[in-house]
Amino acid sequence: MARVAPSILSADFLHLADDVRAMEEAGAQMLHVDVMDGHFVPNLTIGLPVIEQLKRHTELLLDVHVMISNPDETASQYIQAGADFLSVHFEAAKHLDRLVENIREGGAQPGVVLNPQTPVSVLEEILPQCHHIVIMSVNPGFGGQKFISTSLEKVRNLKALIDSKGLEVQIEIDGGMGPENIREAVESGVDMVVAGSAIFGAPIPQERFFQMQGAADEAAAGTNNDAISA
Ligand code: DX5
Ligand code: ZN
Repeated sequence: MARVAPSILSADFLHLADDVRAMEEAGAQMLHVDVMDGHFVPNLTIGLPVIEQLKRHTELLLDVHVMISNPDETASQYIQAGADFLSVHFEAAKHLDRLVENIREGGAQPGVVLNPQTPVSVLEEILPQCHHIVIMSVNPGFGGQKFISTSLEKVRNLKALIDSKGLEVQIEIDGGMGPENIREAVESGVDMVVAGSAIFGAPIPQERFFQMQGAADEAAAGTNNDAISA
């Protein structure tokens, strides 16, 4: 089972409630929420007040991805605001071990995000403490960018590392995902697929969600069958 996580970065911020409702009706289980501070990344998006309002408005899991320079100092505020999953960048954290533990103790599922140039090997020590790892398949900061194709090799390496340690850590991929590459991503070991512009830029976002979730389900079923017959 792989889940598509619609990223509200590409939703209509002035009609956000409608877009969230549409994803609920389509059967989404989670929403990806991109927080950018204009410092760690060259863009500013939304922050704590919007997360609080989303939490009041929807039962969907809030998968909060903070692209901020000071996650160590502010993680607890995002949990307080309603983050169910909280993903922090390896490149921004000062004391990653402490930060991940604080997120877990605060009641959210901790995730570590790797930028495209950061190798999977940096996860060696932190992996057992993580609920999920996010592989950035674009440079963070903007929606609608081109998928970096070498990201799938990273996913396969990460999957091998997780399996070699006997862990259950989930793999999320973020950036440039759409109907054309979701199958290969799931076959490579991805459990959660973030999609912003592919969904909210489509003529009918719900149909695009179905299309992508259907492709993910098919790919996951194929992967499972292979495992059974092997
Ligand atoms: C980019 C964000 C992504 C973004 C993905 O920095 O982390 O979550 O919403 O957008 P698309 O799916 O359009 O590449
Ligand atoms: Zn994101």
